[in-house]
Amino acid sequence: MIEQQLWHPVIASHQVREAPVACALLGQPLVLWREQGHDEHRVHAWADQCPHRGARLSLGRVLIGLHGARLECPYHGWQFGGAGRCQHVPAAPDFVPPPAHCANVFEAQERHGLVWVRLRPPAAQPLAAGLSEPPAFAPGDDPAWRTVLCGPYELNTSAPRLVENFLDLSHFGFVHEGWLGERGHAQVQTGTVEEGVDGAGLVVRDARAWQPRAYAGADEGAWIAYRYEVPHPFAAVLRKDATAGDPVSNAIALVIRPDGHELCTAWFVMATQGDTSTDQELIAFQDAVFAQDRPVVESQTPRALPIGRSAPVTEVHGPADRVSSAYRRYLNRLGIALGTC
Ligand code: FES
Ligand SMILES: [Fe+2]
Repeated sequence: MIEQQLWHPVIASHQVREAPVACALLGQPLVLWREQGHDEHRVHAWADQCPHRGARLSLGRVLIGLHGARLECPYHGWQFGGAGRCQHVPAAPDFVPPPAHCANVFEAQERHGLVWVRLRPPAAQPLAAGLSEPPAFAPGDDPAWRTVLCGPYELNTSAPRLVENFLDLSHFGFVHEGWLGERGHAQVQTGTVEEGVDGAGLVVRDARAWQPRAYAGADEGAWIAYRYEVPHPFAAVLRKDATAGDPVSNAIALVIRPDGHELCTAWFVMATQGDTSTDQELIAFQDAVFAQDRPVVESQTPRALPIGRSAPVTEVHGPADRVSSAYRRYLNRLGIALGTC
C-alpha cells in the first residue's frame, strides 16, 4: 500500500512534551515521545504496544537519566532507549535484554511545526522524487516569513475530498460569500495546470478569483492571482504574492492525516509576510473559513473521491474543474486507494 510508504503529519510538535502521547496513523496506534536532552529534542514514533506483554506505552513515562532519555512501560517498568531497544528490566536487573526485546520503531521527523511519520520505508519500486520526504513548501522554512499553525480540524470525509476543496476556486462565491468570494463575481480562471510526470504532482499557475476580503485585514475586493502546488496526495499549497496594491504575501499549506476511508484530520500551515494581523487573528480567520467549508464538504457523497478506481466515475465536470480533474488523475497515477473510489 503506497499510503504506508508516504510521510504523514500526525500531531502538532508542541503537543509532544514531557509525557508520551497516543496517536494513530492509518490504523496503527502510535506512541510519540520526545528526548529532552541538552540540545536533543528528538521525537520518536513507536507502535503503542510494549513488546513484553502488549501494554500501551503511551500510558508510561519518559525518564531522563545519566544514560539519556528512556521510555518506561507502565506495566512492568521495562525501559526502552531512543532506538527502541530495551535497556533495563527492573524485575531482573542483571538481565541484558537481547536485540529482539525492542519496540516497533517508525521513522519520525518534525517539519512545519508538525510531527511526520512514515510507517514503512519505500518498497522496491522507488517513489516519485518529491515523496521520499515530508512535503517541502516555500517559504515554509524561511525565517523571514511568519508561520502560524491552524488546526487540527477533524473531518468526516476523506483526505482527497478535502484537498480537492482546497484546490477549488469556484466555490468561493457561494461557500465563502463576503469572505473569499462573491456570487456576482463567481467566474474564475483556472490558470495553467502542469501535471508532473511519474507522480511528481501538480503545479497551477495564474489561477484567478475575485476576492472581497482576500486576507485578514483586507478591506476591499480585487482579482487575486494564485499559484497552487500539490506535492503530496494529501497536501496542497496555495500561494499569493504581494502586488502593488496589496502588501501581503501568503502561502497556506493544507496538510492532512488520513484517518480512514472517510475520516481525516487537517492542519493549515500559514506563512505570511506583510500581514499586520496577530497570530490569533490569523487563526480565527482560518477557523472561520474552515467552518464555512465543513458542512458542505462533509455533505458530499460518496465521501471517498471518485477517481474511477473501482467504479465508473459518476460525477460530472465543468470547465472550471480542470484542476480537480488533474488532481484525480494524479491520485490515479500514484495508485492512491485510501479515500478514493
Ligand atoms: S508489558 Fe511492558 S513491561 Fe511488561
Ligand atoms: Fe473553501
